[in-house]
Amino acid sequence: MDQDENALKHATERLKSYAAQFCALRGNFRHFPQIIEETGVSGFDGMLVDIGVSSHQLDDAGRGFSFMRDGPLDLRMDTQSPRTAADIVNTADEPELMRLFFEYGEEPNARRIARAIIKARATRRIETTLQFADIVAAASPKRGKRHPATLVFQALRIAVNDELAALHDFLAAAPRWLKPGGRLAVISFHSLEDRIVKQTLQHLSAPFLDRPEWPEPRKNPDCVLKLVTRKPVQATPQEIEMNPRARSAVLRVAEHLPA
Ligand SMILES: C[S@@+](CC[C@H](N)C(=O)[O-])C[C@H]1O[C@@H](n2cnc3c(N)ncnc32)[C@H](O)[C@@H]1O
Repeated sequence: MDQDENALKHATERLKSYAAQFCALRGNFRHFPQIIEETGVSGFDGMLVDIGVSSHQLDDAGRGFSFMRDGPLDLRMDTQSPRTAADIVNTADEPELMRLFFEYGEEPNARRIARAIIKARATRRIETTLQFADIVAAASPKRGKRHPATLVFQALRIAVNDELAALHDFLAAAPRWLKPGGRLAVISFHSLEDRIVKQTLQHLSAPFLDRPEWPEPRKNPDCVLKLVTRKPVQATPQEIEMNPRARSAVLRVAEHLPA
């Protein structure tokens, strides 16, 4: 399942010798229960979600995912969704832009960058990735090796695709679809995503809950999983050498309890 039509075309071509075992479904995984209806599948032995942005998306300048290549300021994984990054950047007010850069990018200069965007767009609509990256760079003090627009681009991408809410929705629905002993594996790519995965899996695998105001711990009615990975699994240095984009990948796995 992918919300990006191109990703599905590519995967279908690549996996054509497995056509009998493979089914490509278009859609946002936050809605997977409705999307899989047509397949008749009623439960999973395993669910693997490899979230975030793909190399194809990053490398295609026309999609606007990279501030290193000039292209439309788009950043939509689903090209049919109505709102692009340019729409947000040209219409959101200053407090909204600041909140977005701060919450989704953890960008320390969120306020200055938001102000610079408001000023720049008053003279000319912001349309392209490089135009936007230049405005951000001019408003940011030089900081190490990282491009000054890195965190702001991450924030915009998360906002355009509503990525954190989609992950929440998916994780809320997924455990009910696992068969007893079935496994859920999630690969995420930055700390905001990993925090959601870690906290959700911890909650769903805790037999008891405790709060300071309770006289004693209570049974957790949501406990349906056990953790397979106590610590996050990360790529080895050899794998990172072969595929540098694996450097920020974090895998967590949990298993549905027996019936
Ligand atoms: C890191 S890539 C994984 C690519 C895939 N595993 C492969 O090997 O080609 C992430 C993919 O997830 C898709 N994606 C991210 N969030 C999604 C969501 N909420 N619903 C559906 N697809 C999503 C993106 O469009 C992107 O193609």
